Amino acid sequence: MNSKAIITSALPYANGEIHIGHVASTYLPADVTTRFLKQKGVEAYYICASDDFGTPILVQSEKEGKTPEEYVQYWNKRDFEDFEAFNIKFDFFYKTSSSENRQFVQDVFKKLERAGHIYENEIIQLYCNTDKKFLPDRYVVGTCPYCKADDQYSDLCEKCGRVPEEIENPHCSICGQTPVKKKTMHYFFKLKNFSDKISQYLEDNKNLQKDVKKYVQNWIKEGLTDWDITRDISWGIPIPTDGPSEKVFYGWFDNHLAYISSTIKFLNDNDIDGKKFWNESDIYHFIGKDIVYHHYLFLPAMRLGIGEEYKLPDYIPTRGHLTLQSKKISKSRNWYIGLKDFLAIFPADYLRFYLISINPYSQDDLNFNWDEFATKINSELIGNLGNLVNRVLGFTVKSFNSIVPGPDEFDDMDKESEKMINELVSHLDTLMTENHLDRSLKKILQFSAHFNQYFQHKEPWKNGPGTNSCIFLSVNAIRSLAIAIYPFLPESSQKIWSQLGLEGNVSAQMFDEISSITLKEGHKLGSVSPLFEKVEESVIEEQKSKLGASS
Ligand code: MF3
Ligand code: ZN
Repeated sequence: MNSKAIITSALPYANGEIHIGHVASTYLPADVTTRFLKQKGVEAYYICASDDFGTPILVQSEKEGKTPEEYVQYWNKRDFEDFEAFNIKFDFFYKTSSSENRQFVQDVFKKLERAGHIYENEIIQLYCNTDKKFLPDRYVVGTCPYCKADDQYSDLCEKCGRVPEEIENPHCSICGQTPVKKKTMHYFFKLKNFSDKISQYLEDNKNLQKDVKKYVQNWIKEGLTDWDITRDISWGIPIPTDGPSEKVFYGWFDNHLAYISSTIKFLNDNDIDGKKFWNESDIYHFIGKDIVYHHYLFLPAMRLGIGEEYKLPDYIPTRGHLTLQSKKISKSRNWYIGLKDFLAIFPADYLRFYLISINPYSQDDLNFNWDEFATKINSELIGNLGNLVNRVLGFTVKSFNSIVPGPDEFDDMDKESEKMINELVSHLDTLMTENHLDRSLKKILQFSAHFNQYFQHKEPWKNGPGTNSCIFLSVNAIRSLAIAIYPFLPESSQKIWSQLGLEGNVSAQMFDEISSITLKEGHKLGSVSPLFEKVEESVIEEQKSKLGASS
């Protein structure tokens, strides 16, 4: 394992609140992974930023009578606060509209231009005579030229995931009229130049998910098209040209460069040589499957185009979308749960637990279901893990005056339990390293279930022979659990840590500590109380009835 890592997750548009779908596929897996890497002693930094540019943001700010700067500033702050409340712990949260990113993007453009990867071309752009504006991207809906899906935005087909060169049967998405065509000069990035190199990169990089690689390779085989990186709008990073220019970069040209510019800013501010660190690190970009095209083609191509001054990603963990009660999340139809609203009702760890447990390391979609949520929290988190902690620690307080007894000679069952503690770390290490976060959490629950059975079987309340060993091993197993669940459930982990009477932050414990038996005879527990509160059915019913209701 590399001793340095930079982790990013797809930058949220500064254009509305974070909802549970966002955190499921991207921010939570990245946060868990970062916490794990830090436990492993890796110098890891989790970097994110708001994605501030683009036509939809400009339009929305106009509607609200704000400048785009004010508008994105609001969402930048609000998103960050919501993430914090969910214990998504960024080392740095910046913005694509920062002066550092503006500078960096313009420099990259000039380098690409000098290297011959940029050309100018007069294009016919759709223009709406009713709305009196050019209609880039989301302003046009039509038929995907590749898969013939209707009702697709001109910048991304949601059916087949490709970026259409020219959408068929176009309509203005504001007024529905058929737009006219007007001429305008645009810059193009020669994506085609990079077909072979990207293909080679995909082949060489053994960490990328095979199925994603395969369909990206297919896109390459079918032939890539050059990429229009200009927009005729006022909100964006200006294209550095000699003459006056109304033109700005397309948001997808500048946003992923903020992965780099934000990292460099953060590291340099902390007296670390940012560029050097980047190139020595393992680079992780966590994304949802809707932006594969951008991260497996545009992003590597641009890094290749500036001579790999900044290394290409080592990992691009890509996950499916979250549906809600088996339907597509939609803000306009109120089929949607804002992160902030969720956290007003349930602790962050409940949502973290549930979302990780249903989230495989794959492109499969996952589904949020309120009843399943309640069942998982009540029976697995509380009935298994919470029960073990409360039962064992509560019993030790009551019957042993909070003092851990020294073990007697181990019988077979004790030996088996001791072995489970010893072996837990290596099982989890493999799964976590392969980003199988759901399976890792499952392993932890199996471990907990084992100790529940062990405790039940040993019947320490009868105070027969073997009672001391049972308490000794069970309390130590709970210490193992506290460290093991830290990446997933940081708040609960710290609570257990304190209840065990242990000092300081559990986050400072190394991952390998999971398998050590360090609580010795005479150790005194802290004060013990139930970790969790049951999810009530009435609360769930209330939440269900809110969905889809007109507000
Ligand atoms: N804002 C984009 C989205 O939500 C993601 C940008 S990720 C970046 O789809 F890397 F490209 F910035
Ligand atoms: Zn399509």
